[in-house]
Amino acid sequence: MRIQVNARNRGYEFDAQPGQSVLYAGLSAGIELPYECATGTCGTCKAKLVAGRVGDGWREAPGRKYLKGGAEFLMCQCAPEEALTVEVPDFVYAMEPGTCVPEASTATLRNVRRLTDDVIGFALELEAPRDFDAGQFVLLAAPGVPGYRAFSMSNFARGARRLELIAKRKPAGGFSEWLFDAQREGAKLECFGPLGKATFEPGLGKNLLLIAGGSGIAGMMSILARSAEARYFDTHRGWVFFGVRTMRDAFFLKELSAYAGKVKVAVALSEEDPSATPEWPALVFERGLVHEVAKRAMAGKYQNVRAYVAGPPPAVDAAIRMLLLEARLTTVPENGLKECEAEDGLKVVVANAGGEFFGFQAICPHQEVPLCEGLFDGSVLTCHMHLWQWDVRTGAPLGIAEAPLQRYPVAVEGGLLYLGGDDSALGAGELFNGLEQSILEKLAALARRETYQAGATLYHPGDPAEDFFVLESGRVEFLIGRGDRTAPGGFMLKKGEVFGWAALLDGYPARIASARCLEESALLRVNGKSALRVLESDPAAGFIVMRRLAGLIARYLASSGAK
Ligand SMILES: Cc1cc2nc3c(=O)[nH]c(=O)nc-3n(C[C@H](O)[C@H](O)[C@H](O)COP(=O)(O)OP(=O)(O)OC[C@H]3O[C@@H](n4cnc5c(N)ncnc54)[C@H](O)[C@@H]3O)c2cc1C
Ligand code: FES
Repeated sequence: MRIQVNARNRGYEFDAQPGQSVLYAGLSAGIELPYECATGTCGTCKAKLVAGRVGDGWREAPGRKYLKGGAEFLMCQCAPEEALTVEVPDFVYAMEPGTCVPEASTATLRNVRRLTDDVIGFALELEAPRDFDAGQFVLLAAPGVPGYRAFSMSNFARGARRLELIAKRKPAGGFSEWLFDAQREGAKLECFGPLGKATFEPGLGKNLLLIAGGSGIAGMMSILARSAEARYFDTHRGWVFFGVRTMRDAFFLKELSAYAGKVKVAVALSEEDPSATPEWPALVFERGLVHEVAKRAMAGKYQNVRAYVAGPPPAVDAAIRMLLLEARLTTVPENGLKECEAEDGLKVVVANAGGEFFGFQAICPHQEVPLCEGLFDGSVLTCHMHLWQWDVRTGAPLGIAEAPLQRYPVAVEGGLLYLGGDDSALGAGELFNGLEQSILEKLAALARRETYQAGATLYHPGDPAEDFFVLESGRVEFLIGRGDRTAPGGFMLKKGEVFGWAALLDGYPARIASARCLEESALLRVNGKSALRVLESDPAAGFIVMRRLAGLIARYLASSGAK
């Protein structure tokens, strides 16, 4: 079944197997569609149906509460019943080379064993070796239990033949009842994965803080295994906080003890005082909720730290709030946030992304929450109240966020921040961003500003390709092919997006697509040959632009190559 997904930056086409959800089909095709849980609870994968019909596998999915209007649906739960066109309110990219692309497979259940009264450890024997990243999870479907459940790998291996997993019993849970109530050794499970973006690679170069409640320890064990393999803790610090109710609920203590020489490991007991534990001399036991124990132990130690948090939603929320409030007190200015007030009284929050500064509206567009109280990891800004997120380079909304941030150009001179640097569409886009001011000025001198009404066609296939365009505002759709045999090639929203780039290439005198405004759009029109002359006058700038152009074309061809 053919699916066309129009994201904010471009379009993608891929096929779904019969009954396969839109999300799983897109991810299998190497397209980074938005998701978090992949199992119907978080609402991150919501999309709008433009044409076609979907069948909803789980009409009671909790994530449906984030849907607005009848046309929205959860991509992780809905499968196409006919060819679809779908709109996704996010920027969507093809997966980077080297990404572990998820696949559907069948796996055999092995080594099923009780770890505690309500936690079972088990392994999945795979039919073919698979790569996954530390911190990722798989989806499993048991015979006769509708829907997939997510479980995090606790081991780490390249070309893995076995995935090690743990499952905590959930009273009256479908998968739990199936797993706990009978001998399941050797059972066959449907499997989809690997999934998940909260991964760890040793190239990170930061100290690691791992906070896990209950079964959330699984992914942390995978991160510890990956770190140990790379001798990461020879050069970095590490802290593990593992929260359980009582000693009877604790597991993996032997495995955690093996890491405890290099890493500080604390077990937080929420419902009993720790008694003498001679069995586990390398571990620290403390009374309290896991985020409280972590808060006490971590005071003043947040410099250059990457935190991973997992477990039941209340434990995760409490840990994230604790990190937002505590870690920011000692965050070094780099990768930090600060609210500033301009001379005219305008309040702006400034993000320092590795020495580059970006200015934004000071208050979250969702509710009256100051964004300077949010979390910033160097590229993504998160509002701490409802966890809306934005890409700081563009202000574009990510995940569940529904509105972009108003950007304010910021310049730094003599250690002072100034509002109002050059943020023209030319300078903001990926092709010319960061070029010398003198080159940008020469290019700007060639640009003609034009406004088009919704529906206006800018060019057709075969038209002379003399000018390229830079989008200032609005939306432009591409159609590849002619007459009835056209296919949308994507549409663009981002200020600074360049299109019609055949005008910058030698030997491509004619257009190969048509471009049409979907709404009133403002464009800069620049003559290609004149722009090339400017770039030839500064070969260093010319090289940068041509390298970016090659990347842009490669990306475009990679994602429309199936057509
Ligand atoms: C990223 C991630 C990683 C996780 N890692 C672990 C882990 O390592 N260990 C662990 O014990 N738990 C983990 N969980 C929780 C786990 O996925 C299960 O939700 C939990 O174990 C309970 O499953 P259950 O079938 O027993 O309960 P149920 O209440 O029957 O189901 C729980 C979940 O299954 C899905 N579901 C239920 N019914 C349907 C249906 N009809 N159609 C489609 N989907 C349905 C939904 O996501 C629901 O929230 C993780 C969750 C996530 C999101
Ligand atoms: S990804 Fe969470 S609801 Fe679909």
